[in-house]
Amino acid sequence: TLAVLTLPTLILTTTPPSHAQAHPAAITAGGAVGTPPDVLPDPLYPTLGQPGLDVQHYDVRLTVPAPGTPDLRSDTTLTVRADRDLNDVRLDYSGPRVLNVTWNGQPVPYRHTTGQDATPDKLIIQRSLPEGQDARIRVTAAGPAGGVPDPTLNITLGWQSVPATPTQPGANFTFSEPDGTHSLIPCNDHPSDPATFTTTLTVPRGVTAIASGSRLADRAHLNGTHSVTFTLTTPVPTYALGISVGTLDTAARPAVETAGQRVTLTDYFPTSVPDTVRAPYARTGDILTTLSGWFGPYPFSTYGSAVVTPDLPALETATLSTMPVRSSRERVIVHEVAHQWFGNAVPLASWTDTWLNEGFATYAELLWTQAQGQDAAPLLRSWRDRLRPGTRPLTATTRAQMFDATAYARGALALHALRTQVGDDAFRTFLHTYTRTRAGQPTRTEDLLHLTRTVLGPQAADLLNAWITQPDLP
Ligand code: ARG
Ligand code: ZN
Repeated sequence: TLAVLTLPTLILTTTPPSHAQAHPAAITAGGAVGTPPDVLPDPLYPTLGQPGLDVQHYDVRLTVPAPGTPDLRSDTTLTVRADRDLNDVRLDYSGPRVLNVTWNGQPVPYRHTTGQDATPDKLIIQRSLPEGQDARIRVTAAGPAGGVPDPTLNITLGWQSVPATPTQPGANFTFSEPDGTHSLIPCNDHPSDPATFTTTLTVPRGVTAIASGSRLADRAHLNGTHSVTFTLTTPVPTYALGISVGTLDTAARPAVETAGQRVTLTDYFPTSVPDTVRAPYARTGDILTTLSGWFGPYPFSTYGSAVVTPDLPALETATLSTMPVRSSRERVIVHEVAHQWFGNAVPLASWTDTWLNEGFATYAELLWTQAQGQDAAPLLRSWRDRLRPGTRPLTATTRAQMFDATAYARGALALHALRTQVGDDAFRTFLHTYTRTRAGQPTRTEDLLHLTRTVLGPQAADLLNAWITQPDLP
C-alpha cells in the first residue's frame, strides 16, 4: 500500500496560531477595560484548571486500535504559556496510563494523582515556568480510557465506547461537557482557557475518523491503519473538542456563504441509521445562513453533525456537533449550530454562567421558527411552562442548576424581553457586537450586562438585570 498524502506533512509541524488568550483584560465594545483577568478556581469546579496557565494549542494524536472498545494510545503536545510564575504545571488528567512526559523535548519528572481519595485528577509536571515563557509539553499514554462521572446527568463524560452489535460495528466518540476531556488527554480543562487544536486519528482501514476542525491530511499506513488530521485554528474550550470514530456514511452538502465567508458542510451517519434520522440535517445550510444573519459571521470554516446511537443529550462539539439519533430533529440542530457562536467562539469564564450558552442557543430556536414564517407564541409559552415548577436567578449556584430549565428557558425569555424592548435592528447590532468583541474572551454575565448598557443603553441593561437577578420571573 502506498502512503497517500493530500498535503505535505510539513503543514502538520508548523507553529500553531498564537491568538488563544486565556486571561486577557476584557476590552468591551466601548473600548473600556471590563472585568479583570479571569481567575480560577471556578466556584462549581474548584479543582479544574491551573491559575496562570494558558494552553495555546493542543496537538492531539490518538490511535484507536479497536473501535467500540475503550483502548487508546495517545501522544499529546501542549504549547503552554505562563501568565504568572508557576512552580510546576498541573494539568487535569484521568486518562490512560502515562508512559512518558517531555518538556521542550527533554524528559521531565512528573506525578499522576488520581481522584480516588478526594485529591483531584492531576498530572503534575515538576518544572517551573516563569511568567511570560512558553514550553512544549508532550505526554504519551496508553490503555483503556475511562470517564468522568456526571452526577446530574447519570452518565460518564469523556471518551464514549459503543460496542459492536450484530447490526452495527463498534464506535467511539467524545461527550465531554463540562469536564470530560481530561479523561482523554491531559489539559487545562476549563472553558476560560480556550485553545486551538490539531487532531490526528489513527484507526483501522475502512473506519471513518473525524474531529473538530478542517481536514488537513489523510494517509494510509502499511500496517492496515490510516491517519486523518484535522485543524481547528479558532480557539475553543476543551469540552468542545469533538471526535467520532466508526463505520460512517459521509454526506457532503453544498457549501454556504455566511457574511461573505464560505462554510463547507459535511454530516456523518452510522451506516445503520435510517433515512428518517438523516433527513432533518439537509436543512443545516439554511440554518447557518439564517443564524449568521442574527449573530454575525460564522466563527469557523466548516460545520456538520456526527450522529451517534447512544441515548445522550446533543452536544455542540466545535464544527462537528454530536447528535444522538433521538435528538436528530430540526430544533436541536438549530440549537447546536447556535452554540458554535455562544459557547464555542465566545467561551464561558465560569460554569456558573451556563445560561449565556444555553439561553442564546435556545433563543436561536425562536429566531429560526420566525424565519420559517411560523408563530413564535407556542415556543414562548412552552418556555414559560417549563418554569412553572420554579425558577431562580440566572447565575447557577450548584452543579445541578447548570443545565436546568432556568438556564435554557429563562435565559431565552430574558433575551426575548430585551429584544421586545429595543427592537429587531438594535437587537441584531447587539448580538453582532457581542460575538465580535467576546470571541476567544472568557465571558461572564457582567460582560453581557456591560455590553447591553454600552450598545443598548441603561434602560435595556436594567431590564436584562431584572431577568438575571430577580428570584421570580419578571
Ligand atoms: N450543551 C448541551 C446542549 O444543550 C447540553 C449538555 C449537557 N451536559 C451535561 N453534562 N449535563 O446542547
Ligand atoms: Zn445547549
